[in-house]
Amino acid sequence: MRILVTGSAGMLGSALVPTLVRAGHDVRATDIDLTDPLPWGPGLPSLSHLDVRDAQQVRHAVGATDPDLVLHLAAETSLEISDADQDHAYLTNAIGTKYVALAARSAAVPMVYISTAGVFDGSKDGAYTEFDAPNPINTYGASKYEGERIVARTVEQHYIIRAGWMVGGGARKDHKFVSRIADQVRDGATTVYAVTDKLGTPTYAPDFSRCLLGLVDSGLFGLYHMACGGEGSRFDVAARILEVLGRDDVELVPVGSEHFAAEFPSPRPRSEIMRNMVLDLQGMNTMRPWRVALEEYLLAEFPDLVTSVRVA
Ligand SMILES: NC(=O)c1ccc[n+]([C@@H]2O[C@H](COP(=O)([O-])OP(=O)(O)OC[C@H]3O[C@@H](n4cnc5c(N)ncnc54)[C@H](OP(=O)(O)O)[C@@H]3O)[C@@H](O)[C@H]2O)c1
Repeated sequence: MRILVTGSAGMLGSALVPTLVRAGHDVRATDIDLTDPLPWGPGLPSLSHLDVRDAQQVRHAVGATDPDLVLHLAAETSLEISDADQDHAYLTNAIGTKYVALAARSAAVPMVYISTAGVFDGSKDGAYTEFDAPNPINTYGASKYEGERIVARTVEQHYIIRAGWMVGGGARKDHKFVSRIADQVRDGATTVYAVTDKLGTPTYAPDFSRCLLGLVDSGLFGLYHMACGGEGSRFDVAARILEVLGRDDVELVPVGSEHFAAEFPSPRPRSEIMRNMVLDLQGMNTMRPWRVALEEYLLAEFPDLVTSVRVA
């Protein structure tokens, strides 16, 4: 298949584009950020510029590529930026998605939209399934949910896939929780703080990419949750990171969300735990447990942080 990918230069794109190419697909990788135009190295596609906030650019990219599938990753993923500038968040995550959806509909090609567990309000005790009603509590979640609704009503052949806490991108691209902890370890921290009151499901980008590939091959369009198996708090994830790195010299301190209120003022759902219920029911859930996937990620991408004690 010829596949047009938006937002390819981010955490998910860094795993997804190579996965698609290895599977034999012809990938046109685009992003607004062309700082590194050859992020995947030789033999893999170079990035070209596409800003999804520009309807004309989107129409032109789809027309020029003539894709068999449009994979829409581009998003403003910062909760704080989204809350501080709602117009920017809605322009990128909702209106930009509308432009991509309309172009996919005009070209009569299926579309994949990546959404988030952040569409839920977090009050549920058990894991969220595709049959639970979204009720976002911040601008990022609301704008991504609006993107879901636009895709669902615009493109008949769609996959809307909700990811959990994204894990991926390595030292260069990872700008989320895992690299935040890893950076503190690298900087010689002896104490690391992590919250116990935010629950979720880490989602390893390479596992997500493989599972997504199986899904788009199936033709079973619809709404999906696609997170790794299991659940935990941010504290649990940090504990696993330090365990894998063999860093028992670093003290992990449990705190509540108020500890980070100044740095991360946006409201976050208490729980973003998801179950991949539809993938389970369709016999297509290939996502591994998050603790296993996280270990693979750390050993592959942060080997310099693993203590010799752990390696031995
Ligand atoms: N990260 C998570 O924890 C998470 C969880 C669930 C779902 N998701 C979803 O997964 C998808 C991929 O996210 P990710 O984790 O790979 O995040 P990411 O690392 O922030 O990647 C998003 C990419 O989109 C680019 N982008 C932003 N605005 C754009 C625009 N107007 N036109 C074209 N490209 C634009 C970004 O460039 P800049 O870096 O220059 O802004 C970045 O390269 C997103 O749809 C996101 O909502 C992410």
